[in-house]
Amino acid sequence: MVEQKSALLENRVAWVTGAGRGFGAGIARGLARAGALVCITDIDETELAATADEIHSDGGRAMARIADVTNADAMQATADTIVARWGRLDVVVNNAAVMPLVPFAQHTPDFWRKMIDVNLTGVYHGVWAAWPHMVRQGGGHCIAIASGASERGFVDEVAYCAAKHGIEGFTKALALEAAPHNIAINTMGPGKLIKPTSITRADEANLSDDDRARWTDPLLLAPAFVWLAAQPPARFTGLRFDAGPLADTIAAEGYDFAFAPEKATLYVEEMKERLARR
Ligand SMILES: NC(=O)c1ccc[n+]([C@@H]2O[C@H](COP(=O)([O-])OP(=O)(O)OC[C@H]3O[C@@H](n4cnc5c(N)ncnc54)[C@H](O)[C@@H]3O)[C@@H](O)[C@H]2O)c1
Repeated sequence: MVEQKSALLENRVAWVTGAGRGFGAGIARGLARAGALVCITDIDETELAATADEIHSDGGRAMARIADVTNADAMQATADTIVARWGRLDVVVNNAAVMPLVPFAQHTPDFWRKMIDVNLTGVYHGVWAAWPHMVRQGGGHCIAIASGASERGFVDEVAYCAAKHGIEGFTKALALEAAPHNIAINTMGPGKLIKPTSITRADEANLSDDDRARWTDPLLLAPAFVWLAAQPPARFTGLRFDAGPLADTIAAEGYDFAFAPEKATLYVEEMKERLARR
């Protein structure tokens, strides 16, 4: 897999939540490299500043803001600020999530609420905040981050799996209501092994090269988001994509590859079913 350069998103405006490190940082950097103006938000100021530095040192354009995805006011203020500064909002990548491994026997109602607040309601807040701007400008893309836990159950991940499955239901249903507004609602999983959630930039720097070599650099997966964000919103909506196969396809065939579900997701039968229901 090689990083594909492009100007496919020149002057488009994107917002990536949880962009301080990991997958979100790589996605934000990739969107900026494709020409987008990118608002990056997170709750961790230090991590966020590191992503902003990376984008600026690439020559990209970024605005960094602290915004907790569980805070509706902060999310609305972010969307409004983006539009006030850059005139529009074309793409929202709802990436922020937390994934502590906790056996169900140790769950508390507070823990459950926190997990659903960040991992599911946080996605709703991103779409809700962007929605009026996208409706007014005549379209846009909302992409939430999927996982193996969107399709399967995993031990010690009950609340995370419930939230990730919930995002798929949200996506399937909202795609129907969003279509008349030319707004695409999709999800995208990494589709390759990436650094585990919650490992910080400082943690990662202390790991061995062998550990790091097992993980795909999220920047190499970003072309999948560039490709999806560059599609007319009416072309694909209500679907679950995976960045790994998409980025491999783009590297082999270019951004204008002939679409087939096998090239775009690890869950080919699921995508075929969703496409058939449209
Ligand atoms: N890492 C994996 O193996 C993996 C696999 C499948 C899917 N995912 C998904 O990828 C996405 C990114 O995960 P990651 O592995 O890069 O995680 P990460 O922990 O490295 O990064 C998540 C970022 O979100 C931020 N964040 C946490 N709570 C927040 C909140 N309330 N508001 C705003 N920002 C908040 C964190 O500060 C952090 O910078 C998540 O949606 C995750 O579920 C990750």
